[in-house]
Amino acid sequence: MSRNTVLIEPIDAPFETVINALVNAPEEKIEHQETNRSLAEWTGKVHCMDCIALMNMLPAESVSVIVTSPPYNIKNSTGNGLKNGSGGKWPQAALLQGYEDHSDDMPYPEYVVWQRKCLEAMMRVLKHDGAIFYNHKWRVQNGLIQDRAEILEGFPVRQIIIWKRKGGINFNPGYFLPTYEVIYLIAKPDFKLTPKANAQGDVWEIPQARDNEHPAPFPIELAQRCIAATQGGVVLDPFMGSGTTAIAAEILNREWIGAEISPNYCKIAEQRIKLHEKTKLTPCRR
Ligand SMILES: C[S@@+](CC[C@H](N)C(=O)[O-])C[C@H]1O[C@@H](n2cnc3c(N)ncnc32)[C@H](O)[C@@H]1O
Repeated sequence: MSRNTVLIEPIDAPFETVINALVNAPEEKIEHQETNRSLAEWTGKVHCMDCIALMNMLPAESVSVIVTSPPYNIKNSTGNGLKNGSGGKWPQAALLQGYEDHSDDMPYPEYVVWQRKCLEAMMRVLKHDGAIFYNHKWRVQNGLIQDRAEILEGFPVRQIIIWKRKGGINFNPGYFLPTYEVIYLIAKPDFKLTPKANAQGDVWEIPQARDNEHPAPFPIELAQRCIAATQGGVVLDPFMGSGTTAIAAEILNREWIGAEISPNYCKIAEQRIKLHEKTKLTPCRR
C-alpha cells in the first residue's frame, strides 16, 4: 500500500453532515470472513496486513483485551505546528514525515469513519467480559479542542485514563503546553479489573518511550499496566507498530496477536520481540 492510500472512499460533505450521518446511521452489517482456523493459529505473530482485514478473519468474541494506539491523523493538524513546523529535538518530530505506509493525513471525517470501523471490528472480536484500551490524543484545531468524541460516540466508554507523559513540541501561544494523552477504557458489560488494580487511579505518570526507531511508540510500561489490570486471555493490538504490546504481553506471560500495515515496522516489531525473548531466556550472571 502506498504512503497516501486511504482505506475508504473520500467523502465530499461538510464535517457536521458526515458526523450526523454516522451517528444516526442504521447499524451496518460487518462483512467478516471468519475462517475455521482456531485462535491459536493467529497468536504469537505480527500479521503484516490491514487490521480490519485481520480482525474480520478472527473468531467472534475470542480476544480478552485490546491495547492499541491508532495513527492520530496528526499530519493534517492546523494547530500544533506539526504540518510545516519543525519538531526540533523532540522525539515526536519523527511524525512530521507520517508513517512509512500510512500518510496520517486523512480528511478528518474520513478518519472518523475509519476509526469507527476499526472499533466496530474490535468490538466483534472482543469477549463479553473484555475491554479495549484505546490510546489517543486530544488536540486544538482552528482554536477549538478536538476531543475525538465523534469517534467514540455510541461505543461503551467506561472511563478516560490520563497518561501523563510529559514533553511535547506543541508550543502555542494560545494554550498551555499539552503534557498528556488519553486512554479510553471501552468495556463490554461483564468486564472487571483484577483485584486491587483500581487502586492505581486514573492518572498514570509514565515517561515516553525511548530508544525506539518507530516514530510514535508508547512505552512498554503503559501496555503492561493495561494488560496486567485484566483477568487473562489473549491480547490483541491492531496497530502493533514496533511490537510494544506484544512485548508487554510476553512479560506477563499472555498470548497476543498483532496487525501492522508497514512491512518495515513489522520487521522492527519482530526484532524487538525476539530481542526481548533472548533477554528473558538469558540466565543472570552473578
Ligand atoms: C501510533 S502507531 C502504534 C505504535 C505502537 N503502539 C508502538 O508502541 O510501537 C500506529 C501504527 O499503525 C500502523 N497502521 C496504520 N494503518 C494501519 C492499518 N490499516 N492496519 C494496521 N496498521 C496500521 C502504522 O503503520 C503505525 O505503525
